[in-house]
Amino acid sequence: MGTKKLSGESSYTKRYDGRKFDELRPIIAKVGIVPSADGSAMYQSGKTRAIAVVRGPRLLHPKHLENPRKGIMRVTYQMMAFSVWDRIKPGKSRRGQEIGKVSEWAFNEVVDLDAFPNSVVDLIIQIPQADAGTRVAGINAAAMALAQAGIPMSEMISAVASGKMDRTLVVDVDKEEEDYEDGEGATDVPLAITSRSKKITLLQLDGKISVPELRDIISMSKKACEKINAIQMKALKEPGKEIKG
Ligand code: CDP
Repeated sequence: MGTKKLSGESSYTKRYDGRKFDELRPIIAKVGIVPSADGSAMYQSGKTRAIAVVRGPRLLHPKHLENPRKGIMRVTYQMMAFSVWDRIKPGKSRRGQEIGKVSEWAFNEVVDLDAFPNSVVDLIIQIPQADAGTRVAGINAAAMALAQAGIPMSEMISAVASGKMDRTLVVDVDKEEEDYEDGEGATDVPLAITSRSKKITLLQLDGKISVPELRDIISMSKKACEKINAIQMKALKEPGKEIKG
């Protein structure tokens, strides 16, 4: 896919890092990075790295949160203090809570905890290194960790943040692109997509975009997610091995 322009010229004619407009950053995926966990995985896209650890299903404390009909999932997301140039303040942040919540919703569509009443699955996402797209990298790592833990899932989930630099549509936005200011500036669209039925379970939008452009972003992201899914599946078949793509 080439440059998409609705009308007029876009000022963003070449990507900073030389990638094609529909090209993902180099990927590394590895399943089984924390041996004592029920499931764990790492997903790296360029300089953004996410790790995810699953503990459970196990009995839920505090007890008043228990659901006697089915298990619940608790998702936490945190950037590590050294993940960006400015030190990240440890502890809870509004951004971290938002990302934890949208990641949880992204999995609600596929995770089935009916067989685990009164129980909890804890999903912990940590970001050791951030260069934009950490929520989608976290979701990719989490999907592998949940699958390794044997949590019943109707399908896998893959995620990518595509976007628009001025009028040019690009897949897998990095931090330098996210900060693009010329023309219409940068728009960032994180998306999570299920592997078989292609349902969108996360769609956020930071910026300004037309409906046709958003449709194009969704179709570019769907293709990118198929590539990501192939790498996730390969990593799940070979725990302990770094799978590159
Ligand atoms: O990481 P993601 O794109 O999902 O979320 P964001 O809130 O749009 O953040 C974009 C990027 O900004 C992060 O990936 C980091 O590289 C950077 N960031 C930062 O430097 N300091 C923060 N406190 C938060 C984000």
